[in-house]
Amino acid sequence: MNRTDCQALDAKDPLAAMREQFALPPNKIYLDGNSLGVLPRATAARVAEVVQREWGEHLIESWNTAHWIDLPQRVGNKLARLVGAGPNELVAADSTSVNLFKVLSAALSMVQAGDNPQRRVILSERDNFPTDLYIAESLARERGFELVTIDTPEQIEPRLVQGDVAVLMLTQVNYRTGRLHDMSALTQAAHAAGALAVWDLAHSAGALPVHLKRDDADFAVGCGYKYLNGGPGAPAFVWVHPRHADRFAQPLAGWMGHAAPFAFTPGYAPAPGIARYLCGTPPVIQMAALECGVDTVLAAEPLGGMDALRSKSLALTEVFLRLVRERCASLDVITPHESQHRGSQVSLTRAEGAYAIVQALIARGVIGDFRAPDVLRFGFTPLYTRFVDVWDAVEHLHQVLESGEWKEDRFNKRGAVT
Ligand SMILES: Cc1ncc(COP(=O)(O)O)c(C=O)c1O
Repeated sequence: MNRTDCQALDAKDPLAAMREQFALPPNKIYLDGNSLGVLPRATAARVAEVVQREWGEHLIESWNTAHWIDLPQRVGNKLARLVGAGPNELVAADSTSVNLFKVLSAALSMVQAGDNPQRRVILSERDNFPTDLYIAESLARERGFELVTIDTPEQIEPRLVQGDVAVLMLTQVNYRTGRLHDMSALTQAAHAAGALAVWDLAHSAGALPVHLKRDDADFAVGCGYKYLNGGPGAPAFVWVHPRHADRFAQPLAGWMGHAAPFAFTPGYAPAPGIARYLCGTPPVIQMAALECGVDTVLAAEPLGGMDALRSKSLALTEVFLRLVRERCASLDVITPHESQHRGSQVSLTRAEGAYAIVQALIARGVIGDFRAPDVLRFGFTPLYTRFVDVWDAVEHLHQVLESGEWKEDRFNKRGAVT
């Protein structure tokens, strides 16, 4: 395979035109959309409109006239289409961490009120994203549960059948390795063992088809600033299966989750359905940006939607894996080779110099990232990544390794954010 082959793949890419939706900086190969998605072209004008006209001119009226108050539901309903959820089942709100706290707490309440209240374990993976584990750990402590983590995905099912698991809490695509879980099989295993399944879709929403309803998940949360291109710190989202939505109030009983927020009554009465998972006032400007980001993914619907994005994402990661194996032998691949176990990123590792190699690539305009202690992460967002970008990125990686330029001091100084 050579650069011309990659150009040929781009020429027949049915999603090629999607790239035009993004304000990609020139001379950069951006392989970090799994951390912060690229700015959509529509966002700056939309945010300016919200700021200048809706806020600047119409001020508080815009809560009604510009329907600011409906943003969590409006954006949520668009997002629902990307993750296999129905209308009015999902809202955009808060951060992934906060939403996880809400759903995990609701799930624990369900277990305590259910047929097996003696179940005391929240089961997760040791290398789940730390915020998920921190939230689960603190909630477990507060509620008298125990967080148990397993080391490999193969240990999940044997641990479930021990019969003490209340909630299985997993991230669908691992942030470090890019490994993809089988949501359907694991949710089924959790249910068969009498546990509830909570899914974090931070690295899957907008990257691959997610079927929350079809796979019978109980709760899900996810992130707006990665593959959904919502901008730094974009609101996250929360979904609860309709069979559970009305059963428990989540613990952050803010007024936006009240049945009648503008009645200003002293007692809390949760809103029906998913609205009770809201807490405070929505961040309108960031919601507007998130809506533009979600629209970039929905724009692929006429071209085959999430299935088409998944096909291209797998093809991109396949080419990257192949070229890395051929040209960068000193790097080990820690992402599964089998496509059914792979998300939309590829992670490489090297005992020496992983951080510095990423910095040397960034200096060359190839943006990936580093995850401690030794992982080089490359995300492939099929909406804007081209096959020729994959070729060029591996060419730079090859040169960085061959020249040893990563050993320079300037590439070995750590910033606060890696
Ligand atoms: C799996 C996962 N969950 C949660 C988060 C972040 O959550 P928050 O937006 O609350 O910082 C990340 C961030 O990278 C993540 O990878």
